[in-house]
Amino acid sequence: MNDWTLTYDRYDPEREGVREALCTLGNGYLCTRGAAPDCADDDQHYPGSYVAGLYNRRTSTIKGREIENEDLVNLPNWLVLTLRINGGEWVRFDDLELIDYAQELCLRDGTLTRRLRLRDGEGRTIRWHERRFVSMSDKHLAAVALEITAEDWAGRVEVRSALDGTVINNNVARYRDLASCHLEPLGTEAPQDDVILLRVRTNASRIEIAEAARTRIYRNGIEVDAVRRTEEREGWVEQDLALDLGEGETVSVEKIAAVFTSRDDAIAAPAIAACEAVADAPRFEELHGAHAEAWQELWDDFDMVTRLRDLDHVEMKLRLHVFHLLQSVCENAIDSDIGVPARGWHGEAYRGHIFWDELFILPLLNFRRPVVTRALLKYRFRRLGAARKIARESGFEGALFPWQSGSDGREETQVLHLNPKSGDWVPDNSHRQRHVNAAIAYNVWRYYEVTGDREFMRDYGAEMYLEIARFWASIAEERPDGRFGIREVMGPDEFQTGYPGLPPEEERGIDNNAYTNVMACFVLRHAADVLEILPQRARHRLCTRLGIDGAERARWDRISRSLYVPFHDDAIISQFEGYEKLKEFDWDGYREKYGDIQRLDRILGAEGKSVNDYKASKQADVLMLFYLFSTEELALLFERLGYDFQPDMITKNIDYYLARTSHGSTLSHVVHSWVLIRSIRPMSWKLLGSALDADIADIQGGTTQEGIHLGAMAGTVDIFQRCLTGLDVKSGILLVNPLLPEGLDEVRLRIQFRGQDLEIVTDRNSVEISAQPTAAAPVTVSYRGHYRDLAPGDSTRFHLIERPARQNAQCDENRRQLEAADPLSCEE
Ligand code: BGC
Repeated sequence: MNDWTLTYDRYDPEREGVREALCTLGNGYLCTRGAAPDCADDDQHYPGSYVAGLYNRRTSTIKGREIENEDLVNLPNWLVLTLRINGGEWVRFDDLELIDYAQELCLRDGTLTRRLRLRDGEGRTIRWHERRFVSMSDKHLAAVALEITAEDWAGRVEVRSALDGTVINNNVARYRDLASCHLEPLGTEAPQDDVILLRVRTNASRIEIAEAARTRIYRNGIEVDAVRRTEEREGWVEQDLALDLGEGETVSVEKIAAVFTSRDDAIAAPAIAACEAVADAPRFEELHGAHAEAWQELWDDFDMVTRLRDLDHVEMKLRLHVFHLLQSVCENAIDSDIGVPARGWHGEAYRGHIFWDELFILPLLNFRRPVVTRALLKYRFRRLGAARKIARESGFEGALFPWQSGSDGREETQVLHLNPKSGDWVPDNSHRQRHVNAAIAYNVWRYYEVTGDREFMRDYGAEMYLEIARFWASIAEERPDGRFGIREVMGPDEFQTGYPGLPPEEERGIDNNAYTNVMACFVLRHAADVLEILPQRARHRLCTRLGIDGAERARWDRISRSLYVPFHDDAIISQFEGYEKLKEFDWDGYREKYGDIQRLDRILGAEGKSVNDYKASKQADVLMLFYLFSTEELALLFERLGYDFQPDMITKNIDYYLARTSHGSTLSHVVHSWVLIRSIRPMSWKLLGSALDADIADIQGGTTQEGIHLGAMAGTVDIFQRCLTGLDVKSGILLVNPLLPEGLDEVRLRIQFRGQDLEIVTDRNSVEISAQPTAAAPVTVSYRGHYRDLAPGDSTRFHLIERPARQNAQCDENRRQLEAADPLSCEE
């Protein structure tokens, strides 16, 4: 392992699924898991390939009920490549003796390398050196180069290169009772001597997918005139290339594949485009060169130099996280109408759906590639009609975006979900997480703050924002005490699905989730600012079209000042109304009994109990407020709501909820690490360590193989980008307020800000901001009340002011106790 590579030097069949997910290669359009090309879907291997946002809907019958699910579709496997010697068995490396094994993912140029030495039953040693990439420079192309060396034998070698369209969706064991066949074959062909073509179509969304592959063999750089034999059967086409290999000789097989779908722009037909693309493609090395350059450009902007002594391989892990983020969403995705997938396009968990996780991802992109954020927000905008329909059908006004979103923006959250611990299918209430709607408005506003993109606001952002604001005003009900409340929702904490004592089918969520209510306040409060941004005529037109009048605006303002936030125990913000009545949970006892209690809900469910009875959270809920808002912003929101907000409430609430959270979501580690970073450093580092290891060490014990956790990945990088540097934007001014911990000497990052490209370098004494020469207008930057204008080509340095020591002795004591108790349940 070095700073740029993820290395495995031993084959571990049990961990192969995790490695496949972590070694996925992609380019924002196509992602292919790092599966061995000589293996098919079996207990160890799962060679999935996905095109971003390509879904299909199927109906299954569960417990006598018909339920519909829309899935990200596993596409035909373009990787298939194997060989046999003298007409023997086709090589499957699991069946042979493995003498040497090394697998390496190079993050710098997005290349996966596998170096194997295999011995077959007849004692022949085969050296197998394989490199592959999914092109960042041409999103439709992917390639494998395989060097085969006959170490101690000579013979007739046949190389098989195939396209396998017989695949189903089979990555997630929990979904195996559900319909999983999404593809129907349309045809196969060998349109040229060295090209094979496979066409399939999704059976409900009717999207055609064409894959073409060109396979050639080279000896000493010169193409070998191999004997080719092509075989076709339904959903499968293969080409075998035969040649003689002398002892010690090496040949190089190059397979260049192209993937096109009927959703793509600028093509006549997917099959024509795919065949042309492989016919015109240069050789592997040349393609790889262009791909590596495209990665270099991305790294120029995204790499962060950090030297953090206390955490292992932190630079590599951060790069791995940036790598997977960019493979999931980057410029190649801009015209694809995709959202941010919670699990990347790396596996089939959550069916490739889009949740609120973009809340953790867009801040990183806002400062690095705002053009990508804009495209991702437009995915939401295009589904505004569907969101209006959800609101209407749920009895509300405005727009309500679904908790899980897929192709057309309807609510995709499953109606039943399987508890793998008990084997029961239980009703799923998570669509009550209305807070996703606030997250979208929050994202629109933050995007605008960073970019100042008024055109976006005028053409898309404002309409979406105001319709969301309208929803919050309509779901809020006036209470007898004159305040407004929001009932029957779920907060981010997915454990609390309803009040104690109710059977799952009668649960209707909880009332007045503090996070949801404060977010609603935020959305309603900024609605006026959003209108203000618009040019007068555009504002007038939009208000007329949406029917927004002065009375409605006044009502929004009133609600934004009187939403109810529950409190208990002297300044603890209650997660929801009635939270204080729940029982305390026996954390130590359950830890002792079960070890890993991240998924307490399932453990308790299998014991016939309900997590709803306890003060036990899966993930940060109240604490999300401290993650999303600065102390000053939060104080203003609480002041607006008429509540007293003292900064020491932050530490009290952190302590309180940290002790009552199981971290059953990887997002929880990020949020807790973030909120603790400026106070209890060791605990924060520990949580950051867990977030950095979430996928690389598969800390949830089995979820990574179903897809990486993109929110947590981006969140860890954002801890360095925004949390440690204090990077923020308010009223168009770029704020910095760095506080580097012991062990971290420097953070260096490049950002885009309102038309300027800036470099920020901070150490423990100063922060320097330099602007690239360009024709843009100067920007204002600020450090703790000191403002400076920064023109293109200029740089400025602020000397950091020493901070006062923390004052609250009681809180310090609480924290010391917490650290000693170590409430992390996810330690390895
Ligand atoms: C978390 C949600 C998250 C979802 C997708 C769940 O486990 O509780 O907050 O949105 O995963 O990442």
